[in-house]
Amino acid sequence: MTSITVEPCTIALFGALGDLALRKLFPALYQLDRAGLLHAETRILALARETGEPSSHLSAIDEHLRRHVPAREIDEVAMQRFMARVDYLTMDFLQAEDYAALADKLGRVERLIAYFATPASVYGAICAGLAQTGLTDVTRVVLEKPIGHDLASSRKVNDAVALHFPENRIYRIDHYLGKETVQNLIALRFANSLFETQWNQHHISHVEITVAEQVGIEGRWGYFDEAGQLRDMIQNHLLQLLCLIAMDPPSDLSADSIRDEKVKVLKALAPITVEQLGQQVVRGQYIAGSILGKTVPGYLEEDNANAQSDTETFVALRAEIRNWRWSGVPFYLRTGKRMPQKLSQIVIHFKEPPHYIFAPEQRPIISNRLIIRLQPDEGISLQVMTKDQGLDKGMQLRSRPLQLSFSDTYRSSRIPDAYERLVLEVMKGNQNLFVRKDEIEYAWRWCDQLIAGWQRQGDSPKPYAAGSWGPVASIALITRDGRSWYGDL
Ligand code: BG6
Repeated sequence: MTSITVEPCTIALFGALGDLALRKLFPALYQLDRAGLLHAETRILALARETGEPSSHLSAIDEHLRRHVPAREIDEVAMQRFMARVDYLTMDFLQAEDYAALADKLGRVERLIAYFATPASVYGAICAGLAQTGLTDVTRVVLEKPIGHDLASSRKVNDAVALHFPENRIYRIDHYLGKETVQNLIALRFANSLFETQWNQHHISHVEITVAEQVGIEGRWGYFDEAGQLRDMIQNHLLQLLCLIAMDPPSDLSADSIRDEKVKVLKALAPITVEQLGQQVVRGQYIAGSILGKTVPGYLEEDNANAQSDTETFVALRAEIRNWRWSGVPFYLRTGKRMPQKLSQIVIHFKEPPHYIFAPEQRPIISNRLIIRLQPDEGISLQVMTKDQGLDKGMQLRSRPLQLSFSDTYRSSRIPDAYERLVLEVMKGNQNLFVRKDEIEYAWRWCDQLIAGWQRQGDSPKPYAAGSWGPVASIALITRDGRSWYGDL
């Protein structure tokens, strides 16, 4: 059991029968309960528009839990204790009258967490409804991404929420911020003076951020096709990772200190003009191919697909940050669906030593790299140059890793899912891992100019075979600078 003390609260889960809630949120809450991190009096109210007997919806939640929690982590006592906390109420979130029933059901609560696992278009209506219940002063609201599809629409959503809730009670989720290794980035950078002195354009040549997924669209074609990979992944997850790598040390660990530094990075991102787009950004769309020896359909052949769609499922780009620390250091970002493997990693490439004294043919291998592996096999590895062992080897060099694998180092503990940490932080009232309004807006501003550029150019995504690392142009994007994507097979 744990030493963290959490206060009791009521969690109102809007959209409780949706995919996110069933796949991620209930399992995360169950795991918190199992770990002793839910107060005995904490209650969960599942809210959804589905009518019918509450007991049948509760059984469905139970069933999904058992499907999404690994069998070895199902503890019957914890499971029963958890399900006893959950209640169900049918609600139409757009109907003002339904909030009276919600208020009745909630009764007197000291602390309410309203979790919106719904499309952002209804956030405003839910907030207005919550205001009717008279509970806004004791409520923290949790907003799932995507918040809008561009700067203007995200402002609309944020403004509608802000009519009823102050910023310090709004928790905008970017689930990447809850991942164990992403958290470790802060420790790695700011608890080790070793790195901080090297963390700039004098010592780093370039940075790569790859978030590759093996899965395709997984039954979400309609949603995804409206968004595309730039809005779905770059605007949030990859830009957040870039901020954590590039930001200056905050003066303390408070949410605003961290977020102030992240915003400075977003503001310093160099715009990419229409003329630069062709050289700096590559959009791709997967066509049929093979993954793990299995043939898979192309994006346009997925279920419910519109065969004319020109939505991108892959983006690679070269970003620059205009400030003293990063001037001249490209950040190569790449993310796509149907890649050869699921892999999220950040690679920091350090510059060559200033004066080279080894055999000329060994020169290309000389470079220190710091590899931060977010998933799978979470860990950090620092590649250092060593001398090959043996009398016959002379001064033959080899690149070897100094390795920290989290699963080997912390053998006894499972790595919690991002949502477990995020929900816990909301319960604790800590906004560190959540995105402030201005961060979202600066990220949109930067992405909007790319989308506008594509539209002006009439750009169509370049095809790439499912199971490959993306269009050839994404390789050219980095080889033009005399580099290559790290570790591509
Ligand atoms: C979500 C995107 O935010 O992140 C999905 O909407 C994507 O399209 C998912 O699949 C990836 O998350 P993870 O944690 O599996 O890397």
